[in-house]
This record gives sequence, C-alpha cells and structure tokens, in this order.
Amino acid sequence: MKRAILKGTGRYLPPRIVTNEDLAQWMDTSDEWIQQRTGIEQRHWIPEEGGVGASDLGLEASNIALDQAGWVPEDIDLIIFATLSPDIFFPGSGCLLQHKLGLDSTPALDIRQQCTGFLYGLEIVKAYIESGLANRILLVGAEVHSTGLDVSTEGRDVTVIFGDGAGAACFEAVDTAAEVGILATSLHARGEFYDSLMIEAPTSRENPRIDDAMLKEKRHFTNMDGKLIFKNAVKMLPKVAKKTLDRVGISKDDIDLYIPHQANMRINQFFQQFMKLDDDKVFHNIQRYGNTTAGSIPIALDEALEMKLIGAGSTICLLGFGAGLTWGSVIYRFPE
Ligand code: UT7
Repeated sequence: MKRAILKGTGRYLPPRIVTNEDLAQWMDTSDEWIQQRTGIEQRHWIPEEGGVGASDLGLEASNIALDQAGWVPEDIDLIIFATLSPDIFFPGSGCLLQHKLGLDSTPALDIRQQCTGFLYGLEIVKAYIESGLANRILLVGAEVHSTGLDVSTEGRDVTVIFGDGAGAACFEAVDTAAEVGILATSLHARGEFYDSLMIEAPTSRENPRIDDAMLKEKRHFTNMDGKLIFKNAVKMLPKVAKKTLDRVGISKDDIDLYIPHQANMRINQFFQQFMKLDDDKVFHNIQRYGNTTAGSIPIALDEALEMKLIGAGSTICLLGFGAGLTWGSVIYRFPE
C-alpha cells in the first residue's frame, strides 16, 4: 500500500524579533501579563515597512524542506498552501509560491483552515498519495499576521499572541506493508462561530469591499473572542486526540510526542493535564514565536525533528483548534 512519508521539513521566521517589552511601548500591556496568560516571550514579525508576503516566508521554508528531501522543485506533483493571510485576496499564495519556485505548470492548491490548516493539508496529502493521484507533495503553512494587527491598546488581547512565520514539509509516496506514514486524521468545523475569530475586510459582501468607515471601525484587523476560543479549545482538543488514537487503535501512551498548535501555552497545559501526560510528551515553542497559525505545527514539527525529540520509529500526534471554528488531529509514524 502507498503511504505518505515525510522526507523533509523546513521553517522560516523573519529576522525582526518583537519582544513583549517592545509591545508595551505601543500599548498598555506588560511582559508579566503576556507571559502569565499566554507563555509568549517574543515573536517574529516581517519588517515594519512590509514588502514580505506569506508566499515569501513559505518559499524560504520550502527551500529548506526540499533540500532536506533531496528534491528539486520540478519533483513536486502538488503544492498545498495553508494560510489565513494570503499575499493578496486572490489568486492563492500557492500560485505565487509555485512561480517563486521557478515552476510553470505544477498544480497549486490554497486551503483556508487557519490554525488547523496544516492538519487539513495532511488529510489531503494522505488522500492524494494513497489514491495514487500524486507521489510528491509540498505542504506549506505560512502567515503574515503583523500587518493585520491593531497595535494600539484596543487590540492588545489579540495582537500580543500573533507572530509571523512559515513551515514546510515534503511528503512522498512509499510502497510498504508497514503501518507507517499518515496513519489517521480527524477533522471538524463549526461555522456557527465563524465571527469569533476573523478578519472581515476587505469583504465581497459589501460594495465597495473596503472603505474609510470600515478602516475606522478596524474591520481590517484580526478580531477575536479569546475566551470562547479558549474554552472550546480546551474542551475539544482531548476529544479529537482520543478520536484519532481510537482510529489507529493505540493508546495515549503510545504517542512519543504530541505537537499541538501553539495558540496559548495554557491551552496546551490544560490538554496535557487532561490527558495525564508527562511534561516531555507535549511540545512547546510558543515562547519564541507566538501563534503563527497555519505555520505553527510545521514549525514545531521541524524543530522537534532538529532537536531529535522524534525520529525513526516515533509515533506523533499533531493537533489544533482555531478560527472557523475548525479543529482536528493527525497521527503520523516515522518508518524505522
Ligand atoms: O490560534 C487561534 C486561536 N486563538 C486562541 O486560541 C486564543 C485563545 N484565547 C486566549 O489565548 C486568551 O483568551 C487571551 C490570551 C487572548 C486573553 O487571555 P484571558 O486570560 O482570556 O484574558 P481576558 O480577555 O479575560 O482579559 C483579562 C483582563 C482584562 O482586564 P479586566 O477586564 O479584567 O480589567 C483585559 O482587558 O486582561 C486585560 N487584557 C490585557 N492586559 C494586559 C487583555 N489583553 C491584555 C494585554 N495586556 N495584552
């Protein structure tokens, strides 16, 4: 049977570091509040003057992943690009990345599932590879949040948590009888709460799509009902992890490392407590990067591999919850 096997990963964080103290100069907040409520110490943002899009961050991460996989761009059968902050309204950032990789006909698919974008992407990778539709897939998660954040005190609950960054992963079809690769996925969405975390403008349901009034009302900035998201995340993450564990037929202790979306350190600590997991079973890097949404899981996966926390024979569970609302989990096993 064809299995989707990870051949390379990469991450890219723009070099500009914004510390909690930096934020405290622009808004009424403090390093103490941010660390206590979120675990975040700093995040990376693109240059203040802009000029860098999600596809640019994605390109840097992709080049590293391709190198590690030993692929050239022409080897890719399909590009999947997960982002909530595309370079432009349309076409999708996958098309921009395809061009930046020097390709001229490789299909490129954008998906818009926010914090669970990478997880939705993994299910697509599994389906394409196992069905034989594609043999080599580049999956990217990338975000430029910083240009959509209100850096005044009014936006402080949202702005302090988000960072810019990208992660990429190369998956290849491998014919094997072994139980390896993307073993199972569980995905969910609940559109009822679509407006609990969103950027509304520019919007196709208004004419013009954006105007001065909308800018004044800050409808072009990220808006979030943090408490609603927090409560639902804490409730749904253990459930969705359990669902995928059951699908594979393994127990929570068979997982070598849980790599959750990095939204808030406290959410992941609640998850750990609820699942009764040791400290070294749950990966955190939110301290350094903040919440990079679709970028967060592939960035964390790349770091965990680099730190040799996981490798040949490891079984991992990737999971996340966020805007949409969307949530999900994926179990992957590395070949021996
Ligand atoms: O990845 C996408 C999914 N997003 C998430 O998962 C986010 C989930 N939610 C959260 O992470 C948290 O709800 C936040 C970090 C956004 C907020 O933390 P909280 O513990 O829910 O704080 P809160 O909104 O209840 O605010 C508590 C207090 C308020 O003051 P009062 O009303 O008690 O006087 C806020 O005005 O903290 C105040 N506050 C701040 N103070 C300093 C809110 N933001 C800040 C800030 N600095 N940045």
